[in-house]
Amino acid sequence: MDRITVAAAAGSYPVLIGNGAIEALGREMDAARLGKRRILVSSERIWDFHGARFRTIGADKTPILIEDGERYKNLNTVARILDALVKAQADRSTVIVAVGGGVIGDMVGFSAATYLRGLPIVHVPTTLLAQVDSAIGGKTGVNHPLGKNLIGSFHAPSLVVADPVVLETLPRREFRAGLYEVIKYGVISDPTLLDRIRDSVTAIFNRDGDAVAPLVAASCRIKAQVVSADERESGLRRILNFGHTVGHALEAVTKYKQFRHGEAIGYGMLAALAIGVARGVTPKSLYEEVESLITQLGPLPSVADISTKDVIAAIGRDKKVVNGTLHFIAAAERGKTVELTDVTEKEIKAALKKIGLRA
Ligand SMILES: NC(=O)c1ccc[n+]([C@@H]2O[C@H](COP(=O)([O-])OP(=O)(O)OC[C@H]3O[C@@H](n4cnc5c(N)ncnc54)[C@H](O)[C@@H]3O)[C@@H](O)[C@H]2O)c1
Ligand SMILES: [Zn+2]
Repeated sequence: MDRITVAAAAGSYPVLIGNGAIEALGREMDAARLGKRRILVSSERIWDFHGARFRTIGADKTPILIEDGERYKNLNTVARILDALVKAQADRSTVIVAVGGGVIGDMVGFSAATYLRGLPIVHVPTTLLAQVDSAIGGKTGVNHPLGKNLIGSFHAPSLVVADPVVLETLPRREFRAGLYEVIKYGVISDPTLLDRIRDSVTAIFNRDGDAVAPLVAASCRIKAQVVSADERESGLRRILNFGHTVGHALEAVTKYKQFRHGEAIGYGMLAALAIGVARGVTPKSLYEEVESLITQLGPLPSVADISTKDVIAAIGRDKKVVNGTLHFIAAAERGKTVELTDVTEKEIKAALKKIGLRA
């Protein structure tokens, strides 16, 4: 079992990672001196698969079950969670335990942040993406009809428990989507992750706990380090945006329907690498290495019908543009990044063409 500590303004919190970690959940909550009243929030589907694992944590018998999936990530669903908390007479000492992917984590996190101005929350992420990314760092929120994650708050969890055993039931496409984020951590910080994925791809896809747990642990360690140093994304946290400038734009122009987030990041990383190679800051060998890893994981949805112009326009509207400057994270050598603030439209265009978009 790995234990990592994340430093947050509101106090530091542990992240427990490993096969069987959920079995320690009740004990860990006691050790963290979290209240005895515990309310679980999850979705029907996840609860059917994994609800039985939470019998021993001393939570209310009836969990709050909500719809999950991106189209339910909105204020209506948050209102339903809040209603259920009011009905259950949750008070300041009640602990919320969110069991689910990033959508559940973000919505339940936001509900916990606002109910009675803040209840403690424990995250038990059940997708690979949530384990390596969204459960750590304290960003919560929901979508607005006019934009993704426009409404939200920072609310650091009190504990995160990432147990690869729950990933066994995750649809292959969702699992794969999480792996692109693991590749991201490999490129920006820990190149041994790239070696691990390449050398044990079959065991990883078989959800072999011994192959998956080290990926989760190494990724969490990087996310934990980065958010500990920069909780509010003023500088360092930006390295986590590697691949996300183009990735977010691809998601936006396809209305979040064509790609799983990680898949868009797969393309986004290739575009970022291509820009770096063209500039001479990224070794060509790294582009080739990541390209072949991504190919090894399987085909990505096509980008051939997406217009370069639309993607460039979407990049201009991105949150990563600060005071008119695009802070673009490029790869340097394996495990290192460099921030570029003068990437031109022409360079982005060339990269988009290279990864297969139409003019
Ligand atoms: N807060 C952050 O820092 C942060 C970071 C990255 C992403 N996010 C957010 O995360 C969301 C995406 O999260 P996601 O990729 O986990 O998607 P998700 O939460 O929509 O889950 C994907 C699907 O997998 C199902 N599922 C979840 N766990 C399962 C399991 N163990 N077995 C079987 N099925 C399971 C869900 O029911 C859902 O249908 C986005 O809304 C994104 O904005 C937040
Ligand atoms: Zn991401």
